[in-house]
Amino acid sequence: MKEAVLQKFGELFGDSKGVEVYFAPGRVNLIGEHTDYNGGHVFPCALTIGTYAAVRKRADRTCHFYSMNFENEGVIGISLDDKLEPSQRLKWANYPVGMIWAFGEKGMSPDTGFDMVVSGNIPNSSGLSSSASIEVLTGFVLKELYGFDVTNQEIALIGQFSENKFNGVNCGIMDQFAIAMGKEGHAIFLDTNTLQYKYVPVKLEGAKLVIACSNKKRGLGDSKYNERRAECEDALARIQTVKQIGSLGELTEREFEEVKSVIGDPVKERRAKHAVYENRRTVIAVEALKRNDIATFGKLMISSDTSLREDYEVTGKELDTLVSEALKVEGVIGSRMTGAGFGGCTVSIVKDEAVEPFIKKVGAAYLDTIGYAADFYVVEIGGGPKKC
Ligand code: GLA
Repeated sequence: MKEAVLQKFGELFGDSKGVEVYFAPGRVNLIGEHTDYNGGHVFPCALTIGTYAAVRKRADRTCHFYSMNFENEGVIGISLDDKLEPSQRLKWANYPVGMIWAFGEKGMSPDTGFDMVVSGNIPNSSGLSSSASIEVLTGFVLKELYGFDVTNQEIALIGQFSENKFNGVNCGIMDQFAIAMGKEGHAIFLDTNTLQYKYVPVKLEGAKLVIACSNKKRGLGDSKYNERRAECEDALARIQTVKQIGSLGELTEREFEEVKSVIGDPVKERRAKHAVYENRRTVIAVEALKRNDIATFGKLMISSDTSLREDYEVTGKELDTLVSEALKVEGVIGSRMTGAGFGGCTVSIVKDEAVEPFIKKVGAAYLDTIGYAADFYVVEIGGGPKKC
């Protein structure tokens, strides 16, 4: 990948003298879904797959962006002297441009432009955060090129700010945090209320993490995502009329059961129930993993998926097929949808000897039921952004 982006850079921008290559990973969330904007816990990890960028500063105020994943879109250019705003013309480059804008909002504006060629091996729209990967990558590049004084955690927060305010998706902090703070072999147990976190080793002796990509593009996902978020906010506002809490993540299951009738809307009640129960499940699952109790961790992944399907309603036929077929395969310890949902991927813990039959059986059943193929990736947990 490094060689490929360097070569492309040379082709597009004359030569590759003085060009540096940087990398930011993708991420997968093991458990704790749709809890990050509800003040709950999440448990994601960075992957060894991700996005590479070859970059070089320019002497003028122009920035050029080129993606080897969207070659048809050609070189996309902006001037730092223009008002930076989201636009259809920018296509995928709305993500890096959003980061330049967000850095500017925080008082860090680059004085000159730069040229950037990116190439990623995260499947697009898969729920493995290819967009957050580009955001964090751009933040890291800005820091390295212009010497801005920001930590990786601050880059994550600026990435979320950019996604919320520039790209219009009201996401939580999980994706950018998991990518910016990733650590090889570890998942990140993050309390999204306080941003306190712990690295927890993921030792799946005798098993692998397998991602199944539904190849269903998210489509309406972003608006549905914002809708779920609003439903949880409404439920919280109702609960706050009888209980002093700042977020749904502060409630235990029992406390929720005691106050839930005040929500007064069965749909919003189910959304809030998911947020509360999923948060508690995440805490228990991490405890289990620390004891090396992978079986319990796997069971909790399955309950997480059930809740996302029945109460949060963010799965759909494609993800449901992947999970239900996975659970029929001997040697599958746990399986669930991961990320925002409405398409995207599932993550499963599969015993080593079952990986091949898993891919074969789930793949065949998916093709048969859905009519097009799923893709499978056996993934490793990697580190955060770096210079290559
Ligand atoms: C998307 C968002 C995250 C998180 C997940 C669901 O990936 O970007 O902030 O809310 O969905 O857990």
